Amino acid sequence: MPGKSLSPWTLGWFGSAVIFLLLALVLAFVCDLGPGDWARPQALAVVHLFTLGWLAQVMLGALVQFVPVLTAYPLPRPALALPALLATGAGTLALSAGFLGLDGHTGMQVLFRIAPLVLGCGFALVAVMILPSLARKANLHLIEVRMVLIALAGLAGLWTTGGAMVLTLGGASLTVDLAQMLPLHMLFGIGAFLSFAAFGVSYKLFAMFLLAPETAGWQRRWVGGLAAVCAVLMLAALAVALSGAFAAPIRLALSLPALALCGLYLDDIRRLWRNRRRPALEPNMAWSRVALVFLGLSAALLPLAQWQGGRMAEAAVFAALVGWLSTLTLSQLIRITSFLTWIQVFAPLIGRRKVPVVQQISDRVTASRALALWSASTGLGVASLLFGSHIAFRLALAGLFLAAAAIARELVAIRKLWHLPVADRPPCLPPIIRPSVHPLSVAEP
Ligand code: HEM
Repeated sequence: MPGKSLSPWTLGWFGSAVIFLLLALVLAFVCDLGPGDWARPQALAVVHLFTLGWLAQVMLGALVQFVPVLTAYPLPRPALALPALLATGAGTLALSAGFLGLDGHTGMQVLFRIAPLVLGCGFALVAVMILPSLARKANLHLIEVRMVLIALAGLAGLWTTGGAMVLTLGGASLTVDLAQMLPLHMLFGIGAFLSFAAFGVSYKLFAMFLLAPETAGWQRRWVGGLAAVCAVLMLAALAVALSGAFAAPIRLALSLPALALCGLYLDDIRRLWRNRRRPALEPNMAWSRVALVFLGLSAALLPLAQWQGGRMAEAAVFAALVGWLSTLTLSQLIRITSFLTWIQVFAPLIGRRKVPVVQQISDRVTASRALALWSASTGLGVASLLFGSHIAFRLALAGLFLAAAAIARELVAIRKLWHLPVADRPPCLPPIIRPSVHPLSVAEP
């Protein structure tokens, strides 16, 4: 991250997201969720604690941190990060509580109606922070920047479809056809917003961690073009569905560019891997390969999921949310937290005393074991949804929780420098979730 300032709330976003992840997994287990159970109000609450609280918060926090790196331009209004974090956290809790209200808890129904407004404020604040840097003329030729811009359009589509469904379920006069809106909502959330943003950010992160050249080949240009085609098709399907006409053919047509896009992205990452100058892989990159396998699996299941729904759709959504997006995020979170902690604690000491290298402040064995358990449990989860095994799904949930708890403990250990000998730790450590605002000029150690 050469020459970039650190956003003061990045670790706040990450900490909040990890708490939501643990909460979602505990509730999924306690509510005894399993294959075929996803229409229950408890399931909708768990799904949104996971998607909004965990994945969306970690992604928005990562964008606030990485957009200045992608664009080589600082954020104009970094102070909006805290209100944005609070609004997305509060909106997620309100929406999830509101889903429980659908089960007859009338007190929760008011939360359901205000949740989209609160979430919308959080999303808008992030957009106000990062759009001016992304939309600068000098940056628009970068595919990574275009992918993040398309992801923001996806976020707007996600909010529109989600808000329309909330109004419908909440008994407002405006109603939409839920059977048409829900698949589009999932495509906007999982595909256009979370996956396209992950593609954009991962190009930069992977090149940095693998020490690979960042030059974009023909595959990346096609990935950018196909992402735009997918986004246009999704918006067209949304317009058709809102007008009351049948949007399913457009959704089905979307499968083709989406499959081609994933295939080309994977091929592009393979090219990056082959050209790397760092031969020994660290755990974050080694386990990101599993995430890429789950991306391939969920993309392969997409046409069947769109066509048949049911178990295929459950397995495809689980493979995408838990296998692709969460495995990628968890493995990178360990490395990024180590890096930010190193910058905060040791960068000011360079030249004044001996400082450890960034790899010394995390434990690769603990990280690898936790990520292995996460990956195996995800595989079991996908299989149990495909074959409809409730008991195997509960086993998978238990494994996911243990793995997430081990990673959360490792993140605390990194922040507290527990892996360093006591003599090497500075006497005063920074707060666990709030890095100092240090406009440092640093190179990746
Ligand atoms: C990244 C963010 C999001 C993702 C990935 C996501 C994903 C999903 C998924 C997978 C479902 C189906 C759950 C099930 O069947 O159990 C769903 C349903 C729903 N979502 Fe979201 N969602 C997100 C954000 C939102 C937001 C921001 C809102 C409101 C503004 C919202 C409102 C709803 C509603 C009302 C339903 C229920 C529809 C029904 O009962 O048929 N979601 N979402």
